[in-house]
Amino acid sequence: MAIEPFDVVDLIRTKRDRGELSTAQINWMIDAYTRGYIASEQMSAMTMAIFLNGMGRDEIRDLTLAMVASGKRLDFSGLSKKTTDKHSTGGVGDKITLPLAPLVASFGVAVPQLSGRGLGHTGGTLDKLESIPGWRANLSNDEFMSQLENVGAVVCAAGSGLAPADGKLYALRDITGTVECIPLIASSIMSKKIAEGTAALVLDVKFGSGAFLQDPDRGRELAETMVRLGTDAGVATVALLTNMNVPLGRAIGNANEVRESVDVLAGGGPDDVIALTVALAREMLALAGQPDADVEAALADGRAMDTWRAMISAQGGDPSAALPTPKESTVVVAPRSGVLVRQDALPFGIAAWRLGAGRARAQDPVQHASGIDLHAKPGDLVTAGEPLFTMHTDEPARFERALEALEGAYAIGDPGSEIHTGGPLIAGRVG
Ligand code: URA
Repeated sequence: MAIEPFDVVDLIRTKRDRGELSTAQINWMIDAYTRGYIASEQMSAMTMAIFLNGMGRDEIRDLTLAMVASGKRLDFSGLSKKTTDKHSTGGVGDKITLPLAPLVASFGVAVPQLSGRGLGHTGGTLDKLESIPGWRANLSNDEFMSQLENVGAVVCAAGSGLAPADGKLYALRDITGTVECIPLIASSIMSKKIAEGTAALVLDVKFGSGAFLQDPDRGRELAETMVRLGTDAGVATVALLTNMNVPLGRAIGNANEVRESVDVLAGGGPDDVIALTVALAREMLALAGQPDADVEAALADGRAMDTWRAMISAQGGDPSAALPTPKESTVVVAPRSGVLVRQDALPFGIAAWRLGAGRARAQDPVQHASGIDLHAKPGDLVTAGEPLFTMHTDEPARFERALEALEGAYAIGDPGSEIHTGGPLIAGRVG
């Protein structure tokens, strides 16, 4: 049996006592954890020590690169197109990948969107797309590469080969209260993106009630950390800092979010979804060498929609098929007339999850037609008795728990009252 070069307990003590781990120690720790030599309880102690005491810049870089080295790396050098990717740190009603990937691909750029499923109150892109009859998330490597070359946009499951150390570590963090930690989030996201091999990356770093990090300053710190990691690894990286205090758009769920995305691709849709899609598309295209691309024109004239239809068909989906409809719906009406002054993202995300749009355990199925449609957004005038939002589910027993989550989540004030949105949608840019 090979002799291990370090003792994990020494490494845990070092981080516990606010010391710094060396490159060799971090490389060994990630390799030993991936191959099962370091036990989960030891890694739990390590992640909690990192959560409490942080990590220096060099440690974060070493951790990221060690996780990249734990698996395979994709190689897009055989493609005739430039690659550019987008990653969102996750939010409520965040369906932006759906209109964005085909929009950017309609300019002749390859957009490899390796995506995940939802866990907890943030939805998963694959869950949303799976509400389209026939669409499949799992592609072979050949299918993936050929779709990238021929259609340009691919949204598919990431598979377990990229940064497997992160997969194991993320599952551990999820059950040990160590998710909301900048060094761990930054290394987790960027290890997958660097392993994926994209030439350029635009990060949508969210802050606010529906995001991992509530505080905008912490959001900026996360954005700066990830931009530095990407740039140092040779990936052209920029980040937008975006506000997640209010749900994005008017649909929270799966099938209803697909419907709203198709509205945007048809030249309509809610203003905030359009604004964020256009802003991220401009950043992605600028990194791919097209800073003057007329993004709005591609939405208005149907080019982005054509690419969407090709993207869905290439993965077995029928872009014209009817989307699933819920078994039961309940409308919640305005208790008084006035102006909607608050609509808090987190409780709406939790309510949609409780209605069946999300899952509590990784192995649970989701209900594709469940979720919430918002009929009013902050700043809108409402009349007593008018619909504020509609909840959908396949199991009516779920309405009660969803309504519990929504207690105090929205408020109506007198016209002229302050509207609590936490500031503009796009709060800053890093890169
Ligand atoms: N998404 C990830 O992939 N990792 C994190 O740590 C948080 C969000």
